[in-house]
Amino acid sequence: MHRTFVTGLLPWIDAPRLLGPGGWSFEGRTARAELVTHAAADLAARLHNVAIGGSPITVEFVPPLPRPAVRAARTTDARRRRETSIGFSRPGVRLDAEGKVSLTPEALALELGKRFGGRKVVDAGCGAGGNAIGFARAGCTVVAVEQDASRLADARHNARIYGVERSIEFVRGDALDVATRRADPEAVLFLDPPWGVDWARMGVSVADLPLLETVLRTELRARYAALVVKLPPSFRVAEIDGGRPEAVYGVGKGDERRVKFLLVTR
Ligand SMILES: C[S@@+](CC[C@H](N)C(=O)[O-])C[C@H]1O[C@@H](n2cnc3c(N)ncnc32)[C@H](O)[C@@H]1O
Repeated sequence: MHRTFVTGLLPWIDAPRLLGPGGWSFEGRTARAELVTHAAADLAARLHNVAIGGSPITVEFVPPLPRPAVRAARTTDARRRRETSIGFSRPGVRLDAEGKVSLTPEALALELGKRFGGRKVVDAGCGAGGNAIGFARAGCTVVAVEQDASRLADARHNARIYGVERSIEFVRGDALDVATRRADPEAVLFLDPPWGVDWARMGVSVADLPLLETVLRTELRARYAALVVKLPPSFRVAEIDGGRPEAVYGVGKGDERRVKFLLVTR
């Protein structure tokens, strides 16, 4: 058995889900448990170089883990990552490289849409339509804005495949301009800014996400019912004044204990 200490757990991250079984006890930002070697090594592999909400997670074991167990757990973890949440499940969808890497998994997009209960959503930077389609499937009316014409065409095509193209108005243009022109105090402004190639590193900040930085600098939030931003797991949430953060986990076998993204509502 290994006495296991995990630190850096912010209160809103749903730590039991992140850590998994183990009879954890929690005190502030620290969790403790006694784990058998393979469970401890599995945890170490999953939480290697992970930061959530700007807080690096550290894991310590007493006694330390044997190296072969750590190596085996890393291999298993890499294999597990292949069974992550499905992007679009329907055949015939179109995605360019950027649309594919930035696509919100279908089940998570639908779940998010259900929260907005049929409201109007302005999706400022819709990519290939992952979120816009999720909103529309949940009964929302959507204004989907995208600056890249070809990606916007993909989003329209994908919406057709999901039978929701009539609930989405596709607008080619600058997200900020359109969100300003179409501001509505009853509507939700949804922003999934490009995360950049380096998003997996620790502690992404507002300065790394120009579209978010611009939206936060404007008075746009005041002209909507809410601003909801989708962000990389490590994003420093404290940088969004008055933002309510939430960790969203995967639904696939390979990512059910992995934070896929953060949502910050303001
Ligand atoms: C992270 S992706 C959105 C992914 C989408 N939520 C999904 O699940 O499919 C961000 C998109 O915003 C677009 N974008 C970035 N800046 C923009 C701007 N100023 N105006 C319009 N679109 C913008 C990018 O071209 C990119 O397709």
